[in-house]
Amino acid sequence: MSRKKIALIGAGNIGGELAALIARRELGDVVLFDIPEKEGVAKGKALDLEQNGAVLGYDATITGTSNWNDCAGAEVVIVTAGVPRKPGMSRDDLLTINLKIIRGVAENVKAQCPKALVIVISNPLDAMVYEMKKVTGFPRERVVGMAGVLDAGRFQLFLAREMGVAVKDVRAMVLGGHGDTMVPITSNCTVDGVPVAQLIAAEKLQAIVERTRNGGGEIVKLMGTSAFYAPASAAVQMAEAFLKDQKRLLPAAAYLDGEYGYRDLYMGVPVVIGAGGVERVVNITLTSDEKAMLDKSAAAVRELIEASKKL
Ligand code: APR
Repeated sequence: MSRKKIALIGAGNIGGELAALIARRELGDVVLFDIPEKEGVAKGKALDLEQNGAVLGYDATITGTSNWNDCAGAEVVIVTAGVPRKPGMSRDDLLTINLKIIRGVAENVKAQCPKALVIVISNPLDAMVYEMKKVTGFPRERVVGMAGVLDAGRFQLFLAREMGVAVKDVRAMVLGGHGDTMVPITSNCTVDGVPVAQLIAAEKLQAIVERTRNGGGEIVKLMGTSAFYAPASAAVQMAEAFLKDQKRLLPAAAYLDGEYGYRDLYMGVPVVIGAGGVERVVNITLTSDEKAMLDKSAAAVRELIEASKKL
């Protein structure tokens, strides 16, 4: 049985970290793709990571390229192509620049990787993943956006630090659009099954919800570009769930066709990821406050999608 091929479109900060994680976890062979002007970077990172394999002892071929033919037949495509946020820029400011890039990428994915599961990371996420599905025409099971795992990771970390408990014992979800309107779900958030409301004061919880919403911006402000370690790990978790048919329940940006009352929209909801890609959207019960926040978030995402239709 040959190794799986995983194409990473964009060999920047997240692309490089994705390649490193995938190689180390031996999920398959990696193709690290970037534009011709950045081919040297893609090739250099690939070579460095192959040499890293000599030291660490993992088996993976890593190819740096700017030739789409090298991505042909990939089982998984992870897209980070685009520009990251700069200080003062919102994810939505990125729309015009990254929309053009994603359209070109989607045409090539359609031609070269017609059977792939496509995981989109580029921002503004919900609009980018919507465009990817639209241009490729792939079924909704095979086009998904990475945001919820990352946002939930941030939420879980802040909660764990506040409560003084291990982060792995905190389970929480963040739904909605990957922007300022995202909805950290507090009603079903637990520490090893214990509802967080029993362990943390309401105002502290609210402050953590706010910090989570600004979690990406906090890092942009500190280092002048967007985060890359946790975003890469989150996307790899999704890719691994698909490649190993793990049936993991994860929050991810999925195409909604009536679920939660929304149609023709990509937004963060709980999904099951297995060999079939996004095998199903899971309906969970939300409080009326949470549903109202989700409605607001859906409206913001719809606005973004409508704006991109005009560009
Ligand atoms: N095809 C392939 N790669 C492209 C294209 C394209 N058409 N256009 C740009 N790129 C490449 C850039 O050359 C760059 O190497 O995408 C890479 C992006 O890397 P970084 O600038 O380091 O950005 P990164 O931090 O990896 O974030 C990428 O993910 O989280 C989002 O907001 C973030 O949209 C941004 C994306």
